[in-house]
Amino acid sequence: MSKKVFLQTFGCQMNVRDSEVICGLLEKAGYKITEDEDKAEIAIFNTCSVRQHAEEKVWSAVGRSKAKIIGVIGCMANNYREAIFEKAPKVDFVVGTADIAKIPAIIAEIKKHKGSLLEKKIYETDANFREDEIYHTGFHLDRTHAFVVISEGCENYCSYCVVPYVRGKLRFRSSTDILDEIREDIEAGIEKITLLGQNVNAYKSDGVNFVKLVKLVNPLQGLKEFSFITSHPKDTSKELFQAMADLEKLKKCLHLPIQSGSDRILKLMNRNYTRKSYIDLVEDYRRIVSNGELSTDIIVGFPTESEQDFQDTYDLVKEVEFNSAYIFKYSPRPHTEAAKMADTVPKEEKEKRHKLILDLQKKISHQKKCQKRK
Ligand code: 5AD
Ligand code: SF4
Repeated sequence: MSKKVFLQTFGCQMNVRDSEVICGLLEKAGYKITEDEDKAEIAIFNTCSVRQHAEEKVWSAVGRSKAKIIGVIGCMANNYREAIFEKAPKVDFVVGTADIAKIPAIIAEIKKHKGSLLEKKIYETDANFREDEIYHTGFHLDRTHAFVVISEGCENYCSYCVVPYVRGKLRFRSSTDILDEIREDIEAGIEKITLLGQNVNAYKSDGVNFVKLVKLVNPLQGLKEFSFITSHPKDTSKELFQAMADLEKLKKCLHLPIQSGSDRILKLMNRNYTRKSYIDLVEDYRRIVSNGELSTDIIVGFPTESEQDFQDTYDLVKEVEFNSAYIFKYSPRPHTEAAKMADTVPKEEKEKRHKLILDLQKKISHQKKCQKRK
């Protein structure tokens, strides 16, 4: 059997980076990565559970696959574990987000027995953390820009969100290891870096907080530009805005998910800030970081969201004038608190609200682009 592997990534930047790490580990073990699924004996699907739609896309990709060995890894692996083998019997292995270092050994084990009486299925989803060394394989899909993971997991427990259940407890990589990785990237010709975490602003390790970390990254020789995602409003501070204004290599871009403009819904979402405190934060940002760009995430149709709650979100979008916004229709997720509530907003109403905000934001984004050109 040849050693060609096809790896398809679904979901967020964290998954994109995880896929690079896996490709690096597989190459080290003698495998070849191919973009042509038909030429690969082994197909791996690095999956996302954030919304039901994301999962449906994965099930159909797995269903279509003709590879001899099929693996489902990432967030859905943690979400469904061995139940994946029941839903998709052709899957050979299931590997969770913190277990990715085991993938080359698992594939070797499956290859050994494939087609024999000893043929087996393997699942590994219980690791709690990753070794730092896996981040140093040097594999990058993009030769000039690299993602650097600074924290894994999440403990915010926003009531709609599956992430704490699929990516586990919040862990921080050491600042020295993060800086080492960035230096290695620069050596390999990378000029731009994005620091990655579910909530980068909560970063804290060996006396280094996030503001200190960006101050340590900025002077690195050879680095041209860097940015970070994602920020939680409850942990985002004026000190960070000051650092954004002061550090010449730090991009003046902030992704600050609001999720809803209604205080009642924000409370049900367990977001730990109010509409007013969010708007105040944005005012600070705009005052301190001149011409700073601002983007956000919004969920419409959260359980019990009334016309008035929705109107609050609509008005907030109008008032804040984001440069861009990702708008999502609420989708109940297993394990979450919100999934215990009835999904009260009908599909058609979610679609209507989604379109209303999308249209509004399109206009605002367009105006903002025109203002910038002037
Ligand atoms: N339903 C809809 N959107 C969701 N998001 C997270 N969980 C859900 C869900 N259950 C959105 C949030 C988050 C983005 C990555 O995905 O807006 O910020
Ligand atoms: Fe990323 Fe969340 Fe999707 Fe996992 S569930 S891939 S962490 S967006």
